[in-house]
Amino acid sequence: MHNKLNRIPTPFYYYDVDCLQQTLQAINRHVAPHPNFHVHYAIKANANPRLLRLISQAGLGADCVSGGEVAAAIAGGFEPSRIVFAGVGKSDNEIRLALQAGIHSFNVESLPELEVIDELAAELHTTAPVAFRINPNVDPHTHAKITTGLNENKFGLPFEQAADALLRAQELSHVEPVGLHFHIGSQITETEPFRQLCLRINELQALLEARGIRVANINVGGGLGVDYDDPIGHPIPDFEAYFDTFAQHLQLRDGQQLHFELGRSVVAQCGTLVARTLYVKEGVARKFLIVDAGFTDLIRPAMYGSHHFTQNLSAEQQTPAERYDVVGPICESSDVFSRDELLPVTHRGDLIAFRSAGAYGEVMASQYNLRPLPKAYYSDEL
Ligand code: LLP
Repeated sequence: MHNKLNRIPTPFYYYDVDCLQQTLQAINRHVAPHPNFHVHYAIKANANPRLLRLISQAGLGADCVSGGEVAAAIAGGFEPSRIVFAGVGKSDNEIRLALQAGIHSFNVESLPELEVIDELAAELHTTAPVAFRINPNVDPHTHAKITTGLNENKFGLPFEQAADALLRAQELSHVEPVGLHFHIGSQITETEPFRQLCLRINELQALLEARGIRVANINVGGGLGVDYDDPIGHPIPDFEAYFDTFAQHLQLRDGQQLHFELGRSVVAQCGTLVARTLYVKEGVARKFLIVDAGFTDLIRPAMYGSHHFTQNLSAEQQTPAERYDVVGPICESSDVFSRDELLPVTHRGDLIAFRSAGAYGEVMASQYNLRPLPKAYYSDEL
């Protein structure tokens, strides 16, 4: 494998298609006992066309947050009737595109947005299915920048406004209230926050029922985390425990459908960013490994302080021998993949792999410093 990778110009993304297929099979296997469970892939995690095709072929729906994502989902083979569309700031054109495509539902995040969707649906002589995104105020115990379900976040409607929002939607003639939507955050590695979410939804459903309101769909968002420390030992997240939590704790009403929006857990472990060592530089007290990938290729370490499991693919002996600060070439001091990374002795030309980079990697790449965007390669095409 190393020989094949060695011929590709660096930096690049490498996708292990088997790993993705096995992940998709695991999802389908654990969802199969629950015919009312529907998994949508959160396209924001990775919109690579080849991956979208494989994911749509496995039968997942799509979760989109922009008109661009709705278009990419349709081009990638997702049925419009299985696309949900979220986002606090949908533009008129994005709403029109989704209405014309005939998506499953809009996840509406404010009352002004509801009114605009109603108006635009009326202009197009159609009715928009809407779910309200409700803020459950559950703490997912994850990174602050990816916590979304607390009251101080910009997302969704406050819990207390859910009933009035649904009643308002019933009054409007071109929207149809079909569901409730929630999302508490991302990279959640315990089941407890998801159980808390279930309890909040049960509470809300009881409140709504007292006011004579029942919806057809519950959407619990995404957020299932992956093992960034040990991607080799744990390439596939524990979907069984995740789905079981909802099966056990969520009190669905007769005929109610349960939707999920999984991003990271579907694609993180199949992707690797591969870079080449440009220089090994001796600092005063530390050694720098300067590679040809930077935060333009993978922004997660600089933006969230995340650590991606790092390997020297060229070293003959994998025994860790030296500590390096692994840094990129971008002219900012935050362009650091990790500090004191323990690696085999590394030389100019060695290939360095940053694992678990399939989610929020390639899709967040930029051209800052006028660097080219990284290209993608696939295990079954090399
Ligand atoms: N649904 C909604 C409404 C979301 O906001 C998100 C992610 C998802 C689903 C998918 O969540 P997942 O299953 O991937 O956790 N760039 C950050 C993560 C941002 C997550 C944004 N929302 C990172 O690299 O960690």
